[in-house]
Amino acid sequence: MSLTDKTILLIIGGGVAAYKALELSRRLMDKGARVRTVLTKGGAEFITPLSCASLTGEQCFTELFDLKDEAEMGHIRLSREADLVLVAPATADLMAKMAAGLANDLASTVLLATDKPVMVAPAMNAEMWAHPATQRNLKTLEADGIHRIEPGSGMLACGEFGPGRLAEVPDIVAAVEGFFSPHARPLAGKHIVVTAGPTYEAIDPVRYIANRSSGRQGFAIAGALAGLGARVSLIAGPVALDTPPGVERIDVESARDMAAAVDAALPADAAICVAAVADWRTDGCAEKKLKKSVDGLPNLTLTENPDILKGLAGRKDGRPTLVVGFAAETNDIVDHATAKRARKGCDWIVANDVSVGDDGAGVMGGDDNRVHIITDTGVESWEAMLKTQVAGRLAARIAEALA
Ligand code: C5P
Repeated sequence: MSLTDKTILLIIGGGVAAYKALELSRRLMDKGARVRTVLTKGGAEFITPLSCASLTGEQCFTELFDLKDEAEMGHIRLSREADLVLVAPATADLMAKMAAGLANDLASTVLLATDKPVMVAPAMNAEMWAHPATQRNLKTLEADGIHRIEPGSGMLACGEFGPGRLAEVPDIVAAVEGFFSPHARPLAGKHIVVTAGPTYEAIDPVRYIANRSSGRQGFAIAGALAGLGARVSLIAGPVALDTPPGVERIDVESARDMAAAVDAALPADAAICVAAVADWRTDGCAEKKLKKSVDGLPNLTLTENPDILKGLAGRKDGRPTLVVGFAAETNDIVDHATAKRARKGCDWIVANDVSVGDDGAGVMGGDDNRVHIITDTGVESWEAMLKTQVAGRLAARIAEALA
């Protein structure tokens, strides 16, 4: 695959493998990429800014407070003008800084300031790689959506043997190409809003009305869409789930908060409403905790909540190209869901069977889901599968629909 039109910002960390970054810059350029380099202080102990500049034909950036560079090219601009920020070699120190959000030199500042995808190719001593702190940092980076090219295993420069060798240059080039391949990232450039989880509707400062939604299906869908390259805004009700890698999560509590967060996240190419939004809220939340002894039996008047899905599907201005709703049904699933599709005005309804199976297990909160996809062309019924598999298949269908 050609990397023509792509600018790669190559951040070179301070490890003996830094010399391979010179070769890497040339091989990326062979594929058509424009390569700009940032050399850390440690990196400059192994290779020189002059060699980086000579081989790439571009200025090599080294110091954060170089007034000349700042005047010509600020670190923010530097970080934003790349299509991909590639850190190779990524040292344990540099990754620790990234995980902690430190910004005390040019490389770490660029990494914190960038709004572009970041890929790291770690290289370090095997013990440093295995250290719980490094492994903890790697997990954090993964959760932050940072892509990783696994290090190889073998004889290390320090004379020890084990994992920690910088991936081979052709493998790094292949990973970069794979990253930009339209096949691997069919949703690149698309923005998708996903709602997930329940909503809490306050009765008083300590009590609320809620439902049993775990948020797992919605979170899995958000993760699968991000995996296909989409920018995902996940508007999440109160759930106990980790944010999928590469997903931007906005936590909300009530249906009205969720509706406002969805509005704020627009425009979007698609909206996938998986949340089990409470249909009703109490008519005004009591300011103080209701007291059984004083207030007696509360008289709760309910008011209808805004219908987020219907609102999105009916937008005159800025309607997402694809609006997908979910329908949890216990009986006559397809009939109910077909009617719901018409009522809501959405493009697809994903109907899931929430009846309790012979084994007594329901899908709410469980691992599995059995769904039917109702579109304008008919009904497609999928066999029961893991919620993560439903998410993967659905994300692929969404990618086809938005292609
Ligand atoms: O009407 P019902 O709640 O059965 O519809 C379910 C679908 O509508 C789901 O996609 C859910 O996320 C969405 N919905 C919504 N706002 C509401 C109620 C439901 O977005 N207030």
